[in-house]
Amino acid sequence: MSATIIDGRAAAERLRHRVAGRTAELRANGLVPGLAVVLVGEDPASKIYVASKTKQAEEAGIRHFDHRLAATATTAELLQLVRELNANPDVHGILVQLPLPNGVDSAAVLAAIDPAKDVDGFHAVNAGKLALGEEATVPCTPLGCLILIREVLPDMRGKRAVVIGRSNIVGKPMAQLLLQNDCTVTIAHSRTRDLPALCAEAEILVAAIGRPKAIQGEWVRPGAVVVDVGINRIDDGSGKSKVVGDVDFASAVTRAGAITPVPGGVGPMTIACLLMNTVNAAIRSRLG
Ligand code: GUN
Repeated sequence: MSATIIDGRAAAERLRHRVAGRTAELRANGLVPGLAVVLVGEDPASKIYVASKTKQAEEAGIRHFDHRLAATATTAELLQLVRELNANPDVHGILVQLPLPNGVDSAAVLAAIDPAKDVDGFHAVNAGKLALGEEATVPCTPLGCLILIREVLPDMRGKRAVVIGRSNIVGKPMAQLLLQNDCTVTIAHSRTRDLPALCAEAEILVAAIGRPKAIQGEWVRPGAVVVDVGINRIDDGSGKSKVVGDVDFASAVTRAGAITPVPGGVGPMTIACLLMNTVNAAIRSRLG
């Protein structure tokens, strides 16, 4: 048996197309969705992510406001910039690319973002609303995972779901979303005992631990939906680097019912969901 490969690139393309259509309607009504992107320092991976975000925003008709600060920027400077962006009516979404340089108080910077403009969904107000089951801006990566799971499993009620990883930006919100969809959810982490036995029960398995190929195919329950959030750069054996997920794809694909590849799975969905969150924030700004 070989799994259905969930095509994240195609799903992201469809979502971006929908967002672009919505943006065109809004522009026709005099509302131009605006996204502020803040990048501090010279981290090469962050530069690549930010370039993709601004390019895709532009293609979807979203106006972007780019702010580049030197690695020496202080917490006070960033707080001042966030306050200006909060007050700017043309900016509907604020994205501060993480990680911020050592020495900057990231928590204080994220907390200063107006929750209505928090298109990353990292603010405590949005995390709290999500936990309460209220309408909230949901972090982009778990939202993208949920959309991909729905493609192959439209009705998740009663399914046993295991989320591996307890980060605030993926694991915890992912667990909340699965719970809202009536799954029975377990969060596993580095202290979890007997991870293979837990994985063997999972009808939905989401891996978000940032360790290359850590989840073995033999652990996967036959027929499970496997979502791989990992983006790990490793040496391919010939001195070149390649990107692999947290799941050992070659062995997992033989047991899973459906699986996201890396690359081309969850990754493309993250930015598409950011664009969707930005357009939704713009619409809400009009509704007051
Ligand atoms: N760094 C890595 N992923 C993300 C993300 O989704 N949002 C932000 N702001 N920074 C990131």
